[in-house]
Amino acid sequence: MKTRITEMLGIPHPIVQTGMGWVSDSNLVCASCNAGGLGILSPAGLTHEELRQEIREIKSRVNGKPFGVNLSPAVPGLRQFLEVIIEEQVPVLNSGLRNPFRLANMEKPEDLLYIPTVGNARQAVSSEKQGAAAVIVQGWEGGGHTSFIATTVVIPEVVKAVKIPVISAGGFSDGKGLVAALALGAEAIAMGTRFALAQESPLPSSIKEKCLKARSEDAEVSRIWDGFPQRVIRGEKMKRYRGWWTAPWRLPFDFLSTKRAYQTDLNSMMDTVKFLRSLGASIPQFMTGMEMYRRSTKLGDFSRAYFPAGQTVGLIEDLPTCSEIIERTVAEAEDIIRKLGGRLPE
Ligand SMILES: Cc1cc2nc3c(=O)[nH]c(=O)nc-3n(C[C@H](O)[C@H](O)[C@H](O)COP(=O)(O)O)c2cc1C
Repeated sequence: MKTRITEMLGIPHPIVQTGMGWVSDSNLVCASCNAGGLGILSPAGLTHEELRQEIREIKSRVNGKPFGVNLSPAVPGLRQFLEVIIEEQVPVLNSGLRNPFRLANMEKPEDLLYIPTVGNARQAVSSEKQGAAAVIVQGWEGGGHTSFIATTVVIPEVVKAVKIPVISAGGFSDGKGLVAALALGAEAIAMGTRFALAQESPLPSSIKEKCLKARSEDAEVSRIWDGFPQRVIRGEKMKRYRGWWTAPWRLPFDFLSTKRAYQTDLNSMMDTVKFLRSLGASIPQFMTGMEMYRRSTKLGDFSRAYFPAGQTVGLIEDLPTCSEIIERTVAEAEDIIRKLGGRLPE
């Protein structure tokens, strides 16, 4: 399947494994890249030098295939992370919220492909003007921070508004989704929840089991993390949780554990706090939310925690390898396209 995305990246399949904090590590990325997709590494929780080691590990295992790094502009020590990404000649940079190069006042290297994630046509147009090579557009169905617009609406809207190729995210887990995305004008799909539930994903098995049992309506939109809407599955004891004020005494401990989770110093934490405040995020919410996320992804404790997941979690019933995910998605899509081929319903 050739599209402008496969040609631009030099990959055989129009499939992206997205960056997911504490989930998409070098092992998951290598498995996705070696299966013919684009894997994106998340540096969440890594120091600058640990990110460098993860990048080198990927380079040593993918034999020249492209890969990406997802960088949140809110990460403490943004500038140093960008320096590592440039020094290590990472082929693709993905980010949300804002352009990290602009924020850090740094030049983007010519040969680095900047492919941000956006949630509407306005953000896509602005990214195109800032030199994006393509955009990942995430619709309402998607896991993690999410757009307010359904994928079926936002994709054609963005495709009409920009010239760069569009990668569709939010609600995709199989070949039917890939065909639908192509029909909407996208040139690849990006999947988060599907790859988080792959064999190579480092998630504790208790969380994987929980997700396999979840229905699509269990993935609800909540402002639980940082005050911005995010699609998550809530743990059993979280149904009544409405925000940090539910348990304000935990805040100082959660601040310290967030600082530990990012392995960072107080100054860098304060820069992150300032940036999040400029976006209107709730800082106490961010601190308690980070700790709840860490509890599920690292410890497998789901009682007083939450896990980001898209509505497609209700369609996912197994834990295949990344290679199986990519192969069967492409095979199913090709089969549907062949069957549909030129036939009109009678
Ligand atoms: C467990 C999980 C963690 C995520 N973490 C991040 C993150 O750290 N940075 C980011 O830009 N997006 C993050 N996302 C969003 C994904 O990158 C992706 O855009 C989304 O999962 C696509 O929707 P889908 O889940 O329906 O495939 C996360 C999603 C999940 C499911």
